[in-house]
Formats: sequence, structure tokens, C-alpha cells
Amino acid sequence: MAETTKGIVLAGGHGMRLHPMTVAVSKQLLPVYDKPMIYYPISLLLLAGIRDILIITTPHDAESFVRLLGDGSQLGVSIRFAVQDAPRGLADAFRVGASFVAGDDVALILGDNLFYGQGLEAMVRQAAARSEGATIFAYPVRDPSAYGVVELDAAGRATSIEEKPSSPRSRLAVTGLYFYDGQVVDIARSLMPSARGELEITDVNRRYLALDQLHVSQFGRGVTWLDTGTPDALLQAGHFVEAVQNRQGWKIACLEEVAWRKGYIDDAQLARLAARIPNEYGRYLLALLG
Ligand code: DAU
Repeated sequence: MAETTKGIVLAGGHGMRLHPMTVAVSKQLLPVYDKPMIYYPISLLLLAGIRDILIITTPHDAESFVRLLGDGSQLGVSIRFAVQDAPRGLADAFRVGASFVAGDDVALILGDNLFYGQGLEAMVRQAAARSEGATIFAYPVRDPSAYGVVELDAAGRATSIEEKPSSPRSRLAVTGLYFYDGQVVDIARSLMPSARGELEITDVNRRYLALDQLHVSQFGRGVTWLDTGTPDALLQAGHFVEAVQNRQGWKIACLEEVAWRKGYIDDAQLARLAARIPNEYGRYLLALLG
């Protein structure tokens, strides 16, 4: 099978841990410094060479996402939308998105995950090029008990994977970025809800592990993975982006820039997009053209 060209961004959920910020606004539209949160996961899909994107939202937030992103043509990509009527779990993305996946390979990224760092593009491109099984990404964290946790043997192969274990078997959290082959929809459809009542992505990954088709890529210390699930984490992510951008003068996850660098849009289109944003962001885009 060919390279992964499709990607799903899961951007639903209650955002309960961020109430009252997320009562009237979707969590994934909240700002992380100078751009909406969802720009960060979308930019990673673009870097992976994925240009066919499905965004899954709640029923009441769908319209705002469409207003922000349109059909993606301004970025030289295709963006479609689907609605998850209740937060049934991450694996539900493949039930909601079944007709979008249509038996092809597909990536899933959580709309609140932020990745940044050297070597990232090469790693995600490699995962996109793998045509069999599943690829997940492990990242060492101080407190893994809030995440999916994977345990590896000396050869780097997964030996166990657990969701939010109280006694984690390793420090390796499973990040919110996943690449699957076409089996994933059937696997998701066969799952039963977990004890917390959700269709768990960890159960999907366990199924691939049982089939001996789970590949684990490890992000090293040079990669930053942040989630934005609490007020502290959200603020820290904003500070991180601000510090790096203001030091380097390069923006992180600037969708217009990524689309242009990848050749999805040309100079004239970048200039048109810049003209629509009459502030520092637009001036940054214009300056890219030299
Ligand atoms: O961030 C990585 C972690 O994401 C993984 O390590 C865990 O294995 C995985 O289960 C997940 O854990 P979380 O507890 O962070 O998932 P949460 O329920 O917060 O959902 C993540 C995002 O997905 C959140 O922004 C809301 C959205 N979501 C969630 C659910 C359950 C949906 O859009 N629909 C849903 O049904």
C-alpha cells in the first residue's frame, strides 16, 4: 500500500478540565500564544505530507472550525469536517470517520497535542511511509500515570501498553499521534467501552500489539511534546511557543508557512493570505517571501 495521505484531527470532547474557558469556546480553538491550538496538530500532519484531512468536532463547535479553516483550499489541502455527537472515546474517531478512511492508511492526531523539535518531520514522514500495522510514538515524562504507557524490551519492541496505570511499568507516555493501516476501522468497531465508558485508543494499540504489528518510535530529548489539558499546561505551552518564536524569529506551526514551504501553495497565494492578516502575523508571512 502507498504512503499515508489521510489524517484525522480529533477536536471534540467537553474540555471539562478547562471550564469555564471552554464553556462557550472549543478547547482546540483556544490560543496557544499567537494561534489557535488546532494549528499545531494540523501543521504536523502537513509536515508528514498529509493533505487530506478530516476534523472531528462537537456538534455545536463545528461552525467555528469551518469559519477558521474553510475547506483547506487556501492552504492547498483538503479539509473536511465530521461531528462526534458525544465524547465516546478516542477510538470513536474511526467510527465517525469510517467513510473518510475508506480502507486506507490513516493518521490520527489529538487536537490538543503540540509537538516541536529537530528531526520531527523525518520521523513522521517515516511513519507515514510504513504501510503495515500501527506506529505510535513514545516520549519520556516525569509522571506517566496520566497517559497511555508503553513498556519496551531491549530491542525497542512493545511488551505492554496500559491506559493511565496507577503503577506505570515505564516512563514512556504514548503521545496523541498515531499512524494506522486500513484495519483500524474494523478494530475500532469491534471494541467495547472501557471501565470509564470510553472506546480507548490504547485498546486499538493493544490489538495491533497482539497481532505483532505495533511499531513504537521513540521521541528523544530534542523533541518537545506538550499537552494543553489544564490551565497550567495551556499557559506553559503558550510561554514555550512565545520563548522559542521570539528568540529565533521563526514561528512554530504557522500553517500558511508550512503549506508554502511544502509547496502546497505558491508565492502569490502566500501573499494573498498575508494580506488578509494585517498585523505582525501577516507581516511575518510577507517577510518569508523576501
Ligand atoms: O495526550 C495523549 C494521551 O491522550 C494518551 O497518552 C492516552 O493514551 C489517550 O487516552 C489520551 O488521554 P487523555 O486523557 O489526554 O484523553 P482525553 O480524554 O483528554 O482526550 C484527548 C482529546 O481528545 C481532548 O482534547 C478531547 C478530545 N476528545 C476526547 C474524547 C474522549 C474527543 O474529541 N472525543 C472524545 O470522545
